[in-house]
Amino acid sequence: MAKRSVWGSKTGFLLAAIGSAVGLGNIWRFGYMAYENGGGAFLIPYAVALLLAGIPLMILEYALGHREKASPPLAFARVSRKWETIGWWMPVVAFFGITLFYAAVIGWCMNYFVFSFTQAWGADTSTFFMDTFLQVSDSPFNLGGIRWPILAGTALTWLISWAICYREINHGIEKASMVFMPLLVVLTLVLVGWSLQLEGAWAAVKEHYLTARWEKINPFTADGSKVWVAAFGQIFFTLSLGFGIMITYASYLPKKTDIVGNALITSVLNCLYSFITGFAVFGTIGFMAASKGVPFDEAIISGPGLAFVVYPEAINQLPAGQTLFGLLFFLVLIMAGLSSAISLVEAFCCSLIDKFSFSRKKTVTAVCLLGFFGSVIFTTRAGLWILDIVDHFVNNFGLVTGGIVECLLVGWVLKAAVARRHVDQAGGLKLFRIWDVLVRFVTPAILIIVVGFALYSEFSGNYGGYSTKALLIFGVGWLVAALVLSVILMRYPWDSKRLTHEHEPEEDHLIV
Ligand code: PHE
Repeated sequence: MAKRSVWGSKTGFLLAAIGSAVGLGNIWRFGYMAYENGGGAFLIPYAVALLLAGIPLMILEYALGHREKASPPLAFARVSRKWETIGWWMPVVAFFGITLFYAAVIGWCMNYFVFSFTQAWGADTSTFFMDTFLQVSDSPFNLGGIRWPILAGTALTWLISWAICYREINHGIEKASMVFMPLLVVLTLVLVGWSLQLEGAWAAVKEHYLTARWEKINPFTADGSKVWVAAFGQIFFTLSLGFGIMITYASYLPKKTDIVGNALITSVLNCLYSFITGFAVFGTIGFMAASKGVPFDEAIISGPGLAFVVYPEAINQLPAGQTLFGLLFFLVLIMAGLSSAISLVEAFCCSLIDKFSFSRKKTVTAVCLLGFFGSVIFTTRAGLWILDIVDHFVNNFGLVTGGIVECLLVGWVLKAAVARRHVDQAGGLKLFRIWDVLVRFVTPAILIIVVGFALYSEFSGNYGGYSTKALLIFGVGWLVAALVLSVILMRYPWDSKRLTHEHEPEEDHLIV
């Protein structure tokens, strides 16, 4: 059995983990969520979600990956063979449910990077995005052929991901993160500084980002409770939790590791990145609203529109440096996206390698080819619709379900106290006992409520006005297909040597 690679340095591991967490979600999703959910007051539920679910689960994923030195399926199987299916489901959903469209969105960013040279989007950025660039069809079922420029960007994304993941973790992902992340921070700070000195930017930041609208976060009102649910959803997505990514990354850590410290650094820096980027997002939109004389509320839109419609429009309004600002913004998106995409590819490849003992090079090549062909559907004229549906279901159900199962597995089957002892033995900061209570009771209970709310709103009306057929096929169908594939992968027998793993003697857990 080949020896498992180890991160070359603590910094390398941290940069890769933060690289996975910091992604497209930090840039457009956080800003809009904050705006919609009470402005500065949103930071309260956001911080509570970080403390009650984000950090405990980050510690849990790190602890499990480090203890078992394994990707999710192997780690789950070592704790209890019965749970292996879910161990597969997490990286499978992550790969098919997120990576395939994430690669296509990075492909859009690459196109927009090129458009930035000439501001090719013209004066009407919305029509350009929908009709000229995406050429969207009228329904998710009307694929309408491939958009070749998008396919080209998507292919390039897969090629880069392949080139990075092809090499062992300490040569590929670690080295790439050492370049991407410092560059990303510098470029982001330049972007924030530039945005804030634009006319009207600071006023908008103060009024819409930093002013707390307390009445919006009262959890005992219908709207207020939605804000809390949104905060938990955002924390999960932004920290890349529930997909087994952090389990995989932690499996390459050396024996002596500060698990708690690393989890705190990853979580806090990721959220800080979101908070700081929020200044750029609100500032730029405020500037655009002021220069066009429209109210801020009309200028802001969520999702892809924010990056591909509002930003180009703001760039059009800039008094100087339009090309540079555009290049900077889309480069930030591309780098943030790529460092998340490679973590998704790695989690799936590592799972396959752990189970089937395939070679890394062959696995990564096959997975990236498969991924590229899978992404093609998102480069068609119906790509935007399918992406929207898949994303909605994976984020609202896939992620959080993964989180609940993890809590039950580690909290009850392995036993939280055993995991905590492992964390303490690994060295670094000691884990408070309260963590046991959190992962056994508090976190899963809250997550069950979050899923309950999500289910309730699913049944109170079709998401996004799509047909039930479209939601069933692209939403529910996607999750069910991932489950079927997970069962198939789980049924393949293990090489028994793999399932046994020597733990520290004082740990009382036996392999089943
Ligand atoms: N955390 C990433 C973001 O904020 C998204 C992501 C989710 C990446 C899950 C990997 C896994 O964009």
